Amino acid sequence: MKVCVIGTGYVGLVTGVCLAEIEHNVICVDKDESKINMLLNGKMPIYEPGLDKFVEKNVKKKNLIFSSDVESAIKSQDIIFICVGTPPTSAGKPDLNSLDEVSKLIGKSINSYKVIINKSTVPIGTAKRIKKIIKENLSEENKNNNFDIVSNPEFLKEGEAVEDAFFPERIVFGSDNEKVINLMKKLYEPIINQDFDYANNNPKKREKVPIIITDSTSSELIKYASNAFLATKISFVNEVANICERVGANILDVTYGMGLDSRIGTKYMKAGIGWGGSCFPKDVRALSFTAEEYGAHASILNAVIQVNNYQRFKIIQKAMDLLGIIEDKIIGVLGIAFKPNTDDTREAPSVTVINKLVELGAEVRAYDPVVTKIPPEMDQKVIISKDPYETLKNANLMVLVTDWVDFLDLDFVKIKQIMKNPYIIDGRNFLEKKKLLDLGFVYRGIGY
Ligand code: UGA
Repeated sequence: MKVCVIGTGYVGLVTGVCLAEIEHNVICVDKDESKINMLLNGKMPIYEPGLDKFVEKNVKKKNLIFSSDVESAIKSQDIIFICVGTPPTSAGKPDLNSLDEVSKLIGKSINSYKVIINKSTVPIGTAKRIKKIIKENLSEENKNNNFDIVSNPEFLKEGEAVEDAFFPERIVFGSDNEKVINLMKKLYEPIINQDFDYANNNPKKREKVPIIITDSTSSELIKYASNAFLATKISFVNEVANICERVGANILDVTYGMGLDSRIGTKYMKAGIGWGGSCFPKDVRALSFTAEEYGAHASILNAVIQVNNYQRFKIIQKAMDLLGIIEDKIIGVLGIAFKPNTDDTREAPSVTVINKLVELGAEVRAYDPVVTKIPPEMDQKVIISKDPYETLKNANLMVLVTDWVDFLDLDFVKIKQIMKNPYIIDGRNFLEKKKLLDLGFVYRGIGY
């Protein structure tokens, strides 16, 4: 099938690559020419393990083309995916400017029947908004060319996006048009049936992927509610971790004991510095905003946000407990990305923690295996080190913010020698506590 994917961020690029891999003819477009030029030169605009291999393979097979000519791509393809960003505004409401702009362009460019699939994470009711904008922008000679809209949310995790795209746990189609639903089933057929060749001709035969067919509003809500529920799980566990600290319990044992109950489960049960990234913070706020807008109470969602903000300041409290006055102390931070296996620093806990430590007068150094530049929202006084040992030399305190697996292999004997004080705050309960205590470190986890 002839597919156009608008937007080459995480969602667009991964979706485009996945559809090309299952033999569709895909054009990925972006108005940002620098991104398209990178892709045309075989470079990835994002760090996503495994993605480059699939891009290279499908470009070679001519299943995948990159272009900044959005209009021509809309005209030449039959199925148009909208995968543009919906970043939060300061009020918490998602910014729909890019989405509106793309909808206008689609309207102006429609020259035959098209199926428009929205994959951007959008507020409830946006499918109807897109339809209205497209209709208003149809040119006179194309007024009779019909189109249909489907909501098809994504559930990709950064760092595991390629795997998630090929092996989704569910696929949601929000449309009441049977013809379009059948077309969507056809489009995703190899993924639904799990009968394609993936990862170097080593197919993993899995169960058929469940499909949810619903109206567009419910489909949009499935996306928001899923992210909000996962964030709620983490905030709940963080609240329990804080209780553990007060009563002397161990959060790792508590969550393990809870998680073995299959109704609760072991995933998204890791206590720590709190959730960040480009999705959870934005989506929980947006759902809360929608609730207020429609007169429903968002008391749980608001508490989930509050607990998450508090988690970051717990790190500062712990630093104060260990160091007393923070001014002039040297603090080495391990991890800048909001989670491992990504270079994304949007709403990363590192930003809040580092900014506060700098504000309190500390000299902060930071190291991340992938993030090598100071993120724009971070205080520019922070020093980015080239390796973890440089970060920790003469440091009064180590704060682990991101659970990169590389940090497990650090030489802690050496670290103990080079640090001024053997103090560690492990914001992810990630390091081996017993080993560190045996080496003479003072270790503070979260509820552990
Ligand atoms: C999230 C969802 O998991 C995806 O299903 C969804 O498609 C995506 O948002 C999106 O809306 O695009 P992502 O933001 O990539 O994916 O990150 P996650 O792996 O879910 O982690 C989110 C945050 O929660 C991270 O800061 C992570 O460190 C934190 N986390 C996760 C915990 O603190 N504890 C846990 O047990 C799990």
